[in-house]
Amino acid sequence: MNTKGKLKLALGTATDYVAPHFVENHTHTAPTGWRLNVIKAVLFSRLQHTIRAHDTSATQDAHFSFWNNITTADYFDKATNRFGLWFLGAHKPIVDKIHQLHHALPFKRVVEIGCGDGQVLNYFAQNLDGLDELIGIDINAAVLEQNRQKYADIEKIKFIAGNAEDHYDLVSQDNTLVFVYGGVLEYFSQDAVQTLFRQMLAHKNSVIAFVEPIADDHNLAQQPRSYIFGPDDSFSHNHAWLAKQVGLSVLFNEQTRTDDIRWVMCICAN
Ligand SMILES: C[S@@+](CC[C@H](N)C(=O)[O-])C[C@H]1O[C@@H](n2cnc3c(N)ncnc32)[C@H](O)[C@@H]1O
Repeated sequence: MNTKGKLKLALGTATDYVAPHFVENHTHTAPTGWRLNVIKAVLFSRLQHTIRAHDTSATQDAHFSFWNNITTADYFDKATNRFGLWFLGAHKPIVDKIHQLHHALPFKRVVEIGCGDGQVLNYFAQNLDGLDELIGIDINAAVLEQNRQKYADIEKIKFIAGNAEDHYDLVSQDNTLVFVYGGVLEYFSQDAVQTLFRQMLAHKNSVIAFVEPIADDHNLAQQPRSYIFGPDDSFSHNHAWLAKQVGLSVLFNEQTRTDDIRWVMCICAN
């Protein structure tokens, strides 16, 4: 950890000690200035403590708390190039493959886990014919409130705020494309990823497709297990191995790069 990281860790740890409810007391209006920096430091220090304790379940909870926090509501204002440069650029091979699958099956529903600002869900609404419904689930309630207003005239799209793990009844249905895009499973522990994959086992004409970052040094031929990597201290998973282990078939599995990110693009089915 560099000096800036160490200072942030010290500030966050000290704040949590003297004011343990500081973060939880700032959940309604987006804080600015020093309060914002202190909240970020506390969330960072909580995450670091779980990693040091090798407690993957607590690490996942710390990631979920980060994304559920009001301070991340403006994430998508800053991340403006994700859709054009990534989804319709480097990740186009998996988008094309989804079009092929839809042509052959076709899907009736799309459920996106971690839908963020809804651009990808909107793309599917405009470009996959014949869908009955599209559901975006995201833990960040503030972003979903913006989506509801932005896409109010597209009746087929619904947004559900909450932890995706509490909505697997929506995921686990026939004729469904479950899509996870741009770095969402990286915040789920290995066990949680496999629990999600298991939801796909009992269903007809359903697939799970995802685009996720992994560590540059993750040797997918030899390292089945997930580990912490990268700037977010998220999980690098061996997705195809985890999917096969729960009994799914891997229909598509390619890799690509954008700048310094190594991406896995994968589609699995029963
Ligand atoms: C890196 S962003 C990707 C967002 C979007 N898919 C995109 O590529 O633009 C990660 C997203 O996952 C959401 N997320 C993280 N953990 C989640 C969970 N447990 N359930 C639902 N959404 C989650 C975050 O709120 C955030 O919107």
